Amino acid sequence: MANILLACSSVYGYTRRICEFVKAELEGRGHRADVVDLADAGRDLGRYDVIVIGASIRHGKHRPAVSDFICEHRALLTARPGAFFSVNLVARKPDKNTPQTNPYVRKFLRRIPWQPRLVGVFAGNVDYPRYDAFDRTIIRLIMWLTNGPTDPQARIEFTDWTEVRRYAERIAALARGQAAAQGDSR
Ligand SMILES: Cc1cc2nc3c(=O)[nH]c(=O)nc-3n(C[C@H](O)[C@H](O)[C@H](O)COP(=O)(O)O)c2cc1C
Repeated sequence: MANILLACSSVYGYTRRICEFVKAELEGRGHRADVVDLADAGRDLGRYDVIVIGASIRHGKHRPAVSDFICEHRALLTARPGAFFSVNLVARKPDKNTPQTNPYVRKFLRRIPWQPRLVGVFAGNVDYPRYDAFDRTIIRLIMWLTNGPTDPQARIEFTDWTEVRRYAERIAALARGQAAAQGDSR
């Protein structure tokens, strides 16, 4: 059994939901997993066997706290198996839904001093009723420009949960490898 951290950078809570889904999948496979806000994740980092960072895109970027966290904890992140995933609306497009084709992920990985062993990208959600007026206007404009939903009442999840489950399976495999390397029978 491995001890896995799922650190999330989430604005309206959707990336956190994906983290909770991954946590349930990992626990179903016999691992321990905690979902923690990235802002609180630095404290106990050393006690995890595998570290996963999930972050949403907001106005074209992951929040600066994500790369700050990676820079600050670079040594520890590099020393153990790690995974990263991004959540964004561009990934709802079939030609932009892999780490190799999603522009945010490609750019982000080029800029950070960490090479996660596993990278994922998942389409996020639109939840207009939940947004404040400014965010709603911006997202509706972007959706209008990219042929997405613009109905101000729309609440749509574009996430392919089967893909998220596959990603969780791959994290479990990473965790198994780590536990085996440590001769860990916890
Ligand atoms: C204010 C705002 C700005 C966003 N900007 C982008 C963007 O530039 N590109 C994109 O693909 N998705 C963008 N999104 C979509 C989010 O990445 C998506 O809704 C995600 O599910 C949000 O996850 P969160 O609730 O964990 O932050 C934006 C969403 C909001 C609310």
